[in-house]
Amino acid sequence: MPKILTETVDQYLTNLMPDRDEVLTEMEQIAKEQSISIIGPLVGRLLYQMAVMIGARRVFEMGSAIGYSTIWLARAVGPEGKVYYSDGSESNAARARTFLERAGVAGRVEVRVGDALDLLRASEGTFDIIFNDVDKQDYPQVFDMAWSRIRQGGLLITDNALWGGRVAEPSDDEWTRAIQEYNKKAYASDDIWTTIIPLRDGVAISVKQ
Ligand SMILES: C[S@@+](CC[C@H](N)C(=O)[O-])C[C@H]1O[C@@H](n2cnc3c(N)ncnc32)[C@H](O)[C@@H]1O
Repeated sequence: MPKILTETVDQYLTNLMPDRDEVLTEMEQIAKEQSISIIGPLVGRLLYQMAVMIGARRVFEMGSAIGYSTIWLARAVGPEGKVYYSDGSESNAARARTFLERAGVAGRVEVRVGDALDLLRASEGTFDIIFNDVDKQDYPQVFDMAWSRIRQGGLLITDNALWGGRVAEPSDDEWTRAIQEYNKKAYASDDIWTTIIPLRDGVAISVKQ
């Protein structure tokens, strides 16, 4: 993936971060070796910070893979909080369960396997945060459906909002166009206040006013 930040700045920010624990460090290594797309430590830290800032206790994650972003969120919501993990792959979920257990947060994560949009539809109540990291063609639909499921003052956070910079140019690619549409929707309303942070691959943070 082309970097939004220069390699030097990305490295500088990464070097500022304290070392992660053994589990997150191992997951970062596995993700690199096996080309598993994860948010990485810079965005993990941002998610953690956003969750702490709004006192999030109930989080729905769409597209959780092996549970790396789930661990950051689960640590932020605290022992009384709940994070709903969702992924279409049973084998991802099995790996995630092991990591969540080792990270000491399994008790605050509910693992659900299936289409994340269906799982969100089928879930009850509202959430403090919905974190969206599914396949990109679904982004506009996620935007449309997420709003009624977030409490006032809650956040919709979406990864890959800048898509290696490709969103800045006209494109025929389905995923690029879907992200462009998502970003337009996210900036179009005063009720949903959005800023895209150009960290890693771009993170869209929207607050429901
Ligand atoms: C980019 S990875 C998620 C990485 C994870 N958020 C992290 O940073 O650790 C995307 C994951 O979403 C899953 N996925 C994509 N579209 C999905 C959908 N519509 N429903 C459920 N899972 C989906 C894929 O199986 C993949 O594991």
